[in-house]
Amino acid sequence: MFADVTASLVCQPTQVTVIGAGKVGSTLAQRIAEKNLAHVVLLDVVEGLPQGIALDLMEARGVERHDRHIVGTNSYADTAGSQIVVITAGRPRQPGMSRDDLLKVNANIVAQAARQAIAHSPDAVLMVITNPLDVMTYVAWQVSGLPARRVIGMAGVLDAARFQTFIALELNVSIADVNAMVLGSHGDSMVPLPRFSTVNGIPITELMDSATIDRLVERTRNGGTEIVKLMQTGGAYYAPASAAARMVEAILQNQMRLLPAAAHLQGEYQLQDLFLGVPCRLGCRGVESILELHLSDRELQGLHESAQRVRDSIQQAIALLQASSDLLPS
Ligand code: 2OP
Repeated sequence: MFADVTASLVCQPTQVTVIGAGKVGSTLAQRIAEKNLAHVVLLDVVEGLPQGIALDLMEARGVERHDRHIVGTNSYADTAGSQIVVITAGRPRQPGMSRDDLLKVNANIVAQAARQAIAHSPDAVLMVITNPLDVMTYVAWQVSGLPARRVIGMAGVLDAARFQTFIALELNVSIADVNAMVLGSHGDSMVPLPRFSTVNGIPITELMDSATIDRLVERTRNGGTEIVKLMQTGGAYYAPASAAARMVEAILQNQMRLLPAAAHLQGEYQLQDLFLGVPCRLGCRGVESILELHLSDRELQGLHESAQRVRDSIQQAIALLQASSDLLPS
């Protein structure tokens, strides 16, 4: 009886490939599987590492009771047919390093990963987490050859989550009622927007004085650095993995969530040809649309200053790849 039913069903298994079995990648694999979002293929260059993590996560199913499969591999062939590819591979920051300091070492890692993964999953949405985020997303897009709207960087959801947490702690309100918007690059030039950050619809500018808001904005800008300093052995991974899982869910389930994310700008906010954090409607095709907020002169200036720093780094990364690899035409 069951055989007849299953034989007639064309089961297109939903699969997400996570590249990089470090702390962010392995936590993301766990979140995707245990939220029952998709099967996961976890890839890493280190022999045995993704396989061991995947087996551990599979064995957790005896308790977690989900039916998603997690497979660990060192071969891109095993990632074929994924709906989403997430690149977490690369070096994390050490104390005293900026995200931009990672550019030279991570550009080639991300470019190689994007090229090989998309060759096996040409219809996938490509999501980047590796830092420096905005630049690495541009590099992945260039190397992958995908339409720009199918390439996206995870940062704004993480930065907004931090801002939301600091607002909730400051006001002693439930995090469930706090929403925040953060634009710009994933670095100290990011642009948290208090005007568009609310507690149950009430702008925080009605609830806190400007000095308090500035303090929370500054702590958000330095959110990643604060954790690197505390941990000394690398950066955050629980909140980044949660943020990425939220975006994976929105894409897989075509939710049309309005979330801040690094998307390719083609004139929006008077900016051209770079990836930067903006409000995006996320659906099954990736970035379904970009929302252009009416920014004040000061907010727009902050966004443009952020964009200029990203643009400078993009030029550096492209030149590096053209000089050191065949991944980009000279
Ligand atoms: C962070 O902000 C890792 O960039 C990530 O913690």
